Amino acid sequence: MLHAIDTRQLRLPAPETTLSLSDITARAATLGAYDGHERVWLGRDEARGLTAIVAVHSTALGPALGGTRIWPHPSFEAALTDALRLSRGMTDKAAVAGLPLGGGKAVIMADPRRDKTPDLLEAYAEMLTALAGQYYTAEDVGMTLADADFLGERAPNVAGTTRGSSGDPSPFTARGVFLGLKEAMRRRCGSPELEGVTVAVQGLGSVGWTLADALHGEGARLIVADLDRSRAEKAATVFGAAVTEPDRIHAADADVYAPCALGGVLSASTIPEIRATIVAGAANNQLATAEDAEHLAAHGILHAPDFVINAGGLINVAAEIFSGGYDGAAAMEKVACIPATLAAIFDRSEAEGRTPDAVARAIAAERVARG
Ligand code: NAI
Repeated sequence: MLHAIDTRQLRLPAPETTLSLSDITARAATLGAYDGHERVWLGRDEARGLTAIVAVHSTALGPALGGTRIWPHPSFEAALTDALRLSRGMTDKAAVAGLPLGGGKAVIMADPRRDKTPDLLEAYAEMLTALAGQYYTAEDVGMTLADADFLGERAPNVAGTTRGSSGDPSPFTARGVFLGLKEAMRRRCGSPELEGVTVAVQGLGSVGWTLADALHGEGARLIVADLDRSRAEKAATVFGAAVTEPDRIHAADADVYAPCALGGVLSASTIPEIRATIVAGAANNQLATAEDAEHLAAHGILHAPDFVINAGGLINVAAEIFSGGYDGAAAMEKVACIPATLAAIFDRSEAEGRTPDAVARAIAAERVARG
């Protein structure tokens, strides 16, 4: 459904700023990744180097929440597609986790190592302020806790900052992925024990590194890859990990493949090369296409749907937004429910002969429809 711009809900940028804000929902609706998104906004500020897209997929269960990704997408269409897919995934993630939140996501087209200037973040904070009431943001790839703090000092709708609130969501995400991975081990191998099990971890950023640390702590052998070679080499030193190339990690001789970098890594070209029998990782949108869930099953690979096991960060941020006072221990207790959610999805998947991904999406759709 397309909406006209409702300026009553918008705090339009102050006249002295150079930020321009436009509703690009109609343009987004021409792309294949569009799935009835409620609203898509483009914020542009050439002087300060900002091109940002905020996509709100659904507010049926609550206000839209999702992190901001800062990434040098090769084209505007690629960035818009990413924002549409990621925000769609946030709707499913919140619904399956039982949270009163909708799905949203933001993408800033910029190289986080080169272009992430205070000016750019200032302009983005103005965009966020204009969208307050419609969209909450938090961290995603390319954004640090310091960036979240910077934005949180300037805009009211930033969660996951250090200012007396939930802080970095990554440890919560990593914990949920770790527990979900072990639940998938239990299902596939009859035991969640990690001693001697080989796990291939792709991406050693905030989540991947913490996950690798936890896996190493329980005796898993690690094979790792990161575009930033120094991170992989550090893992070799700290965890005794074997290092491989980022474009070959999916084919590593491992029991479990844990994608913790970017999405689209489970595709027609990679799936036949995967030697692991379990895929369980943090990366959002791991499946290149919905049909790739079937391809994984046909290759005998058990996939823990990403939006089910990587919900820990969202659960933590929700604890900040909805509780009177943020309680990290209570949030961690909720994260500990992720394996039970996953086990129920695996049960239904086996009973109905559908992939875990299809079952998890059906559960989300049922909850969104109930409202
Ligand atoms: P991050 O930006 O801290 O780390 C990403 C890492 O992946 C970086 O070290 C980067 O160099 C590496 N990388 C990028 N492309 C790669 C490739 N092709 N091969 C190998 N390494 C590559 O990001 P973070 O926060 O750790 O997130 C990782 C994934 O988990 C993302 O897909 C994110 O959307 C997802 N996620 C993160 C959450 C969080 O709480 N941080 C919550 C839910 C999902």
